[in-house]
Amino acid sequence: MYIMSFLIPIYMYKIYRQNRLNIIRLSGFQKPKTKILQEKIMPADVIVGAQWGDEGKGKIIDVLAEGYDIICRYQGGANAGHTVVVNGEKYVLHLLPSGILHKGKLNIIGNGVVIELEELVKEIDSLRKRGVKITPKNLMISENAHIVMPYHKILDSAKEIKSGDKKIGTTSRGIGPAYVDKYSRTGVRIMDIFDDEKLLNKIETNLDEKNFILQNYYGKEKLSVKEIYENIKNLRGYIKIFIDDTIWTLNSALKKNKKVLFEGAQGALLDIEFGTYPYVTSSNPTIGGVMTGAGISYKYINKVMGVVKAYQTRVGAGPFPTKMDEDTEKKTREKGGEYGATTGRPRSCGWIDLVALKYAVDLNGLTEIILTKIDVLSLFDTIKLCVKYEYNGKKIDRFIPDGDELYKCKPVYIELDGWKQDLANIRNYKKLPEQAKKYIKFIEDFINVKISKVSVGPSREQILNKK
Ligand code: IMP
Repeated sequence: MYIMSFLIPIYMYKIYRQNRLNIIRLSGFQKPKTKILQEKIMPADVIVGAQWGDEGKGKIIDVLAEGYDIICRYQGGANAGHTVVVNGEKYVLHLLPSGILHKGKLNIIGNGVVIELEELVKEIDSLRKRGVKITPKNLMISENAHIVMPYHKILDSAKEIKSGDKKIGTTSRGIGPAYVDKYSRTGVRIMDIFDDEKLLNKIETNLDEKNFILQNYYGKEKLSVKEIYENIKNLRGYIKIFIDDTIWTLNSALKKNKKVLFEGAQGALLDIEFGTYPYVTSSNPTIGGVMTGAGISYKYINKVMGVVKAYQTRVGAGPFPTKMDEDTEKKTREKGGEYGATTGRPRSCGWIDLVALKYAVDLNGLTEIILTKIDVLSLFDTIKLCVKYEYNGKKIDRFIPDGDELYKCKPVYIELDGWKQDLANIRNYKKLPEQAKKYIKFIEDFINVKISKVSVGPSREQILNKK
């Protein structure tokens, strides 16, 4: 009896508690967890060019690659020339992603890239000769990617010559004609070249039309079906081991939270949709290109990093409002080594265009900027930054993406004092001259995006983290 007087109240309390918990559960009430759930950080980041290409993306991707499992190219082709300097040795990559120089990283050439087989084989070969191991463990090529065929390159050059002073100034890599065939659904994909009958058929059908144009419109020689067919058959064995389903691979990796860096080629102002049309390339270097050119969802993307040169360059034809005077341009080109990595053409040089940069920020939703080649500006007593355009008698702060209208825009500059000090050996952001920091701060405030890193030279070590 004595014991029961203890047990009954305990039993009653248990029933009361159980009922209360049930009521709470049924009413959907959840006791707040004491631990605050951390927001999940998405595993993919993107590097895009925020000007007219040649911003120094190759070096930046090489520097960042260590923090990723996969590096993936998603658009463009061998028109790109990503320069990377490792231990004083210079590598120029046209098709291979810039992570290829790092051990243990998978490099993917996505479905949105157009691949020139001969160039790809040459690039793999030359890296192997320099001691870089390239196997299916570190290189994968999309079976869906389209091929730049020999007739694309010939058509590209022939069109440029015929266009005279209306030419685009392409890299003559056949990029435009290859994308034309892709979108007119006559292109040859990587997967097609391993089926003899299909390959022959495609070449025959394509050459039927291309030879007519080459001979009758451009006055060129006819191309041989057999030669192209045999050439591809010779090359395909070399790349076969790298071909796979990159869309599945990327999505599986992202689901497992593997870190992926998407490597843009060219730049926002060369985008076929948003660039200075018609003086543009034929793909989407902006953020949308990642989804269509790699087959992944936007939901995986965390950072979108824009690479911006501390001044501005352009290669090929098209408007360039902030182009420098001849003497200033010459000095900049020499110090900055501003010659095309793919074509060797001298690049036009100009002052940074913040109107255009704001546009690139909007197009891409840039979350941070990486500023390159600020060391080149050490040449000057004063530095100009374009903050508005004068267009049809009015001052405007909107970018005009039309290639012909942009010619009518005159830059409105503000000038900042230069620093006239060599920056190449600085390894700590705080050690930058005050005037250089003011220049950086002005850009940040104007475009309302933080600059996270500043590059002061071509090699891996010449990069400063700005917190
Ligand atoms: P395409 O891409 O060869 O058709 O050339 C079209 C335009 O884009 C031309 O003005 C080229 O100079 C420019 N372009 C293409 N690729 C690059 C690049 O990687 N860097 C800079 N400009 C480029």
